[in-house]
Amino acid sequence: MTAKAGAVVTGAGRGVGKLVARMLVERGYTVLVTDVDEASATATATEIGAIARVLDVRNDVAVQAARDDIVTRAGRLDVWVNNAGVLVTGPAWEQDAATRRLMIEVNAVGTINGTVAAIEAMRGHGGHVVNIVSLAGITAVAGEAVYAASKHAAIGFSLSTLADLRLAGVRNIDISCVCPDGIWTPMLHDKLDDPAAALSFSGTLLQPADIVTAVAAVLGKPKPVTTIPRWRGALSRFADTFPRFGLRAIPFMVAQGRRTQRKLSDASSGRRGTPPDGS
Ligand SMILES: NC(=O)c1ccc[n+]([C@@H]2O[C@H](COP(=O)([O-])OP(=O)(O)OC[C@H]3O[C@@H](n4cnc5c(N)ncnc54)[C@H](O)[C@@H]3O)[C@@H](O)[C@H]2O)c1
Repeated sequence: MTAKAGAVVTGAGRGVGKLVARMLVERGYTVLVTDVDEASATATATEIGAIARVLDVRNDVAVQAARDDIVTRAGRLDVWVNNAGVLVTGPAWEQDAATRRLMIEVNAVGTINGTVAAIEAMRGHGGHVVNIVSLAGITAVAGEAVYAASKHAAIGFSLSTLADLRLAGVRNIDISCVCPDGIWTPMLHDKLDDPAAALSFSGTLLQPADIVTAVAAVLGKPKPVTTIPRWRGALSRFADTFPRFGLRAIPFMVAQGRRTQRKLSDASSGRRGTPPDGS
């Protein structure tokens, strides 16, 4: 067993996952950077000083093999971050079955596969599973119905499994869900002209570093659900508690999101990938 504990991040080739993996390396973990895209996993791992492994989170056998790999290399698995995600916008009836299945399988089944594999390796010494969900896991999101369904599944599964662990007397394995508003990553870079993605732009457009800060915070102090920013989390919960109010508010939020999309499109035309704050 090496001095450093093991950590796995899924979908870590780019975006949020890449920065979370970097933070874990900086904290001294032996990190497995996994992604379905082998080239980005390899490039990221080389850049941040981690180990690359191609992994499609939909494949439970491959997820278990990645888990065994980190245990062999690091001696112990302490942190598993289920971050891999896919967003295809549009009403569900305009999407083909394969597209709908893709979102459910990556965002929900992938999170289940990772969590279960991690728990098996964490039994005894304990550990922490961090699931990157979304505010779409809390309330309705017009234009992102199947994505919202997959994220509701991810959060329902996470909290229920946490309850099962506690009922089984397991107190040293934590599951923390991090639920951000829209984040300026490649997931949204191509959606400035997409009306169906308006709600992702209707609140505070976050930077990936904001999510890294939240993940670092829950690693220090596990928390079942963290919403970012907190006010949007409160609004999402209110809309979910009073769905008629929530549904009435959606057209106004879509209009707000479209305004932000147009502003960003004007500001960043020719500069896609540059954060909207210009940093
Ligand atoms: N960007 C946003 O607005 C936003 C908002 C809230 C939550 N999230 C969530 O944050 C997480 C990170 O997203 P991001 O914004 O960095 O997006 P991103 O598109 O930049 O990164 C997602 C990563 O997941 C990988 N991936 C896709 N399918 C996979 C699979 N089957 N197996 C393994 N990896 C796979 C991709 O290759 C990519 O590297 C996702 O779970 C996403 O749903 C994103």
